[in-house]
Amino acid sequence: MTLAATTDEDELVVAIASESDLNHARMVARETCKLVAIRGYQAQKVVTTVSELARNIARYAKTGRVRFRVDTSDEMIVVIAEDNGPGISNLDEILAGQYRSRTGLGRGLLGSRDLADVFDIQTSPAGTIVKIAFSYSQRKPWTTSTT
Ligand SMILES: Nc1ncnc2c1ncn2[C@@H]1O[C@H](COP(=O)(O)OP(=O)(O)O)[C@@H](O)[C@H]1O
Ligand SMILES: [Mg+2]
Repeated sequence: MTLAATTDEDELVVAIASESDLNHARMVARETCKLVAIRGYQAQKVVTTVSELARNIARYAKTGRVRFRVDTSDEMIVVIAEDNGPGISNLDEILAGQYRSRTGLGRGLLGSRDLADVFDIQTSPAGTIVKIAFSYSQRKPWTTSTT
């Protein structure tokens, strides 16, 4: 069995069907941070980003899910927010910062891209998948062993 398959089994999935599910997604984000012992601003980045992506699902796709897992070999928290909603036709404009939202702050996706260490988005009329990841490595350059 590969390591990837093992971590897949440890995945936590939060179903998003309305704005009331955002609390659950945030809670699981916080618990995942605790699991890998990150706190403060590092943890806040994870919770904020998860909240934004889950809110987008509830608002624009109506339903979807947020999947959480810990990649112990890369020392990353990996979060995948996915839905089968209408997709984002003007993604390029949004990621270029040229889009002004009528409703929210209009910085959910851009903010998430800036906060996350990995940001990848795939969207089509069949739905949207946003993958983000955060390093939880506690290694400092001056304590890293080179042997
Ligand atoms: N999961 C999604 N499904 C469909 N459209 C989305 C999704 N997420 C974002 N969008 C579209 O992208 C736009 C920008 O999203 P975002 O950066 O979060 O800003 P805001 O939500 O404040 O408008 C939204 O206004 C919406 O049109
Ligand atoms: Mg948003």
